Amino acid sequence: MGARHWWEDAVFYQIYPRSFQDSDGDGVGDLAGIASRLGYLHSLGVDALWISPFFKSPMKDFGYDVSDYRDVDPMFGKLGDLRDLVARAKGLGIRIVLDLVANHSSDEHPWFVEARSSRSSPRHGWYLWVPDGPRPPNNWKAIFELGSAWHRNPATGERYLGTFTRHQPEFDWRNPEVRSAFYDVMRYWFDFGVDGFRLDVATGYFKDAELRSNPFSPKAIPDFFQKHVYDRNRPEFHEAFKEMRKVADEAGERVLIGETHGSDPEIAASSHGKANDELHMAFNFDFLHRPWSARAFRESAEVWYSLLPEGAWPNFTLSNHDQPRHYWRYRAGDRTEARARVAAAMLLTIRGTPFIYYGEEIGMTCRRIPRHALRDPLGISTWPFGFLGRDPERTPMQWDGSEGAGFTRGRPWLPVNPDYASRNVAAQQEDPASLLSWYKALIALRRARKSLTSGGIRFLDGVGEDVLAYERAAGDERIIVLLNFASRARRVDLEDEYRVLLGSAVDPGARRSRGHLELEPESALIASAE
Ligand code: GLC
Repeated sequence: MGARHWWEDAVFYQIYPRSFQDSDGDGVGDLAGIASRLGYLHSLGVDALWISPFFKSPMKDFGYDVSDYRDVDPMFGKLGDLRDLVARAKGLGIRIVLDLVANHSSDEHPWFVEARSSRSSPRHGWYLWVPDGPRPPNNWKAIFELGSAWHRNPATGERYLGTFTRHQPEFDWRNPEVRSAFYDVMRYWFDFGVDGFRLDVATGYFKDAELRSNPFSPKAIPDFFQKHVYDRNRPEFHEAFKEMRKVADEAGERVLIGETHGSDPEIAASSHGKANDELHMAFNFDFLHRPWSARAFRESAEVWYSLLPEGAWPNFTLSNHDQPRHYWRYRAGDRTEARARVAAAMLLTIRGTPFIYYGEEIGMTCRRIPRHALRDPLGISTWPFGFLGRDPERTPMQWDGSEGAGFTRGRPWLPVNPDYASRNVAAQQEDPASLLSWYKALIALRRARKSLTSGGIRFLDGVGEDVLAYERAAGDERIIVLLNFASRARRVDLEDEYRVLLGSAVDPGARRSRGHLELEPESALIASAE
């Protein structure tokens, strides 16, 4: 095994910038706001921030529609604010990872404005076109609009591809000019001092050359009953990833993290490259779709480990800006909080890099947003069918119990969850028994024990099917993690003697195993071999 890279030992924290901290009272979070909360992030113990897009954008998909890849949208501040944020974060040992949206641009990007003006424009070939006709060329769908992904462009008598909204036209990644334009954008930000990119829709860059229709798949309900074999996940993406990896490597220790769009861990695993020469990490979203079950998570992790190519490093996440928060997914009345602690212990002790989504450390949850307050295009188009869209997981960070939750002194762009009055950072910071304190303790333990980062993992059998148990070991350090997913107490018999380091339902350090450990209902115990 070669030398370790910083991202393998890091705890990442995802910030959705509209919702983290507003500094100027317009109700939308901004870069200066993030900078003002660096002290908090440092005390939480995170090592790197992935910040969702804050580039110039008409905000049709809230920043995932970029009209200038090299500048900050005035809503979020100026380039100088970013410079300041990067420098201050660096001073605290926190790295910054940007979100590169290279599958598509905004329809207001000058590249697309030029491309759509005429078939002979030099940028026309940067995007994907078909001649217009009475029907679209295939069954590909615009995910957020519930219609065809092929949108009319009367000026050229063609249709262009936009898999998200019509305002997000997609690039032709077979065009070398497009590729080199994005590699230049990457170099620009590396020179600026950022530590890497999360690559939006990375496995979608290439579409089928013959534009074949996706096959029908009865199980793929949120995917319009289609298996996405032709509109994304084309093998050509490997070539682009190799090129991007070279650009990153030339800039030093920078990380590329792929949103390997979809729920297929095999595709995510393959994105690391057979020779480990593609993405440094690729998101496997499988944990986001697992039920509350020890067996389900163990199976998911084992599959993920077994699929990863030799030398590739795993990562795990439970929540992000596109899926209902896990606090809400695993809600179970007054047991919800206990479950959140078990989930946190798993995320922060399982072998791989953890990604925390802002607010999960205080147990932020989802709730239905009234129709008039919906902002997400997906939420708006699916409202009549009763789907939630993605606004519920994007509500403002709950900093304190004051009006606006300490997020804004203005009117927040999305309603703050009313539970902010009691569920907020200020209240939990004071309380050693809070969920926030639990996250801090887990992160601190992770930092102090090599086995929890670089150590190997061995799942333990014979502990009962409700308990997820594993050992992490490095050198002579040996730690066991016992996670009881059941609503009843469980007893785990152990051969060796252990001392409890952390427990979500016991006093830390107070317990030793004498042949066994008792697990409270829905609780986590982390213990070290004596
Ligand atoms: C990714 C992002 C999502 C965005 C979409 C289009 O899936 O995570 O938020 O809407 O890409 O860019």
